[in-house]
Amino acid sequence: MQNKFSKLISTGSYLPDKIYTNHDIEKLVDTSHEWIVERTGIEQRHIAGENESSVDMAFQASSIALKNATLNASDIDMIVLATTTPERKFPSTAVLLQNMLQNNNSCAFDVNAACTGFIFALDIADKYIKGGFAKNVLVVGTEKITSLLDWKDRNTCVLFGDGAGAAILTSSNEPGIIYNTIGSDGSYKDLLTVNTDPEFIEMKGNDVFKIAVNTMGKLAAKTLEENNMSVEQIDWLIPHQANSRIIKAVAKKINLPEEKIIMTVKNHGNTSAASIPLAIDYANNKNLLKKDNIIMLEAFGAGFTWGSTLLRF
Ligand code: UT7
Repeated sequence: MQNKFSKLISTGSYLPDKIYTNHDIEKLVDTSHEWIVERTGIEQRHIAGENESSVDMAFQASSIALKNATLNASDIDMIVLATTTPERKFPSTAVLLQNMLQNNNSCAFDVNAACTGFIFALDIADKYIKGGFAKNVLVVGTEKITSLLDWKDRNTCVLFGDGAGAAILTSSNEPGIIYNTIGSDGSYKDLLTVNTDPEFIEMKGNDVFKIAVNTMGKLAAKTLEENNMSVEQIDWLIPHQANSRIIKAVAKKINLPEEKIIMTVKNHGNTSAASIPLAIDYANNKNLLKKDNIIMLEAFGAGFTWGSTLLRF
């Protein structure tokens, strides 16, 4: 009989060795460690090497996730990879990863939903598994987002960092992913975007901030309501890590105590599609996530895009 659920069975992550602290960035633009910490919660971010691509980072994170699941690459029948910084325009980063893993029998493709990419990827993986079309899906978020930064623009260069996170979802007769919702609204396309020639991130930070808090706050409340759950039933909130003020404001909107938030923005900065899987792996490695814990994921990104997930660990 076909299993009814998809379950997250392992995680892995990778962060480049090179670190830029706020003090390093003070040397590049007119900013200060104090301003960055007060307005964003960020103290440092990892920066990929010149020859290190989003595929290389995805490979490292995925290899750890496979090892933790005691699976071989050949056991994976689908790779869904979220990125906004593909190594090439085509073929996709997912097939480049597939090739590095020497897994040539899966279906591999990329998803671009900016900072919400991992939740979009998770949603697809969950639905393929529940539909009986896939058994083991490797879900990856990877970004070399610093390659899109103008290191002379203090509005953006203080915010972002590189890295990759991976998770394996498998067909299971116990939950699993309980709930997933994703959405987008292209009318906000110009508030957070990448300009061409030169290719730099441009953001109306203040507008993005307000809409992010409102959207994620409503989304978290709707997620609880649609699942007939009270906030007390949530063990952990693992949100997209863009700004600690946004995260705390969202938690406040649903009366979730701050002790239940996994916060990695201080050390990672905003790693876009990689931020949620990096944060899940961080919490997993610290043994914070216990069997049967109920975890809420919340994300918001360029588009705008948004997504919310409830999962039983
Ligand atoms: O991942 C997807 C979603 N992305 C986000 O969620 C990011 C959302 N936005 C934010 O996190 C915040 O809006 C920022 C952290 C980007 C900015 O914080 P803010 O509190 O919204 O500041 P602001 O843009 O209103 O700027 C306040 C002041 C301005 O100076 P004046 O006009 O008040 O004199 C800015 O010029 O801070 C100045 N400023 C800076 N000062 C020092 C802006 N960036 C910097 C900086 N260092 N790096």
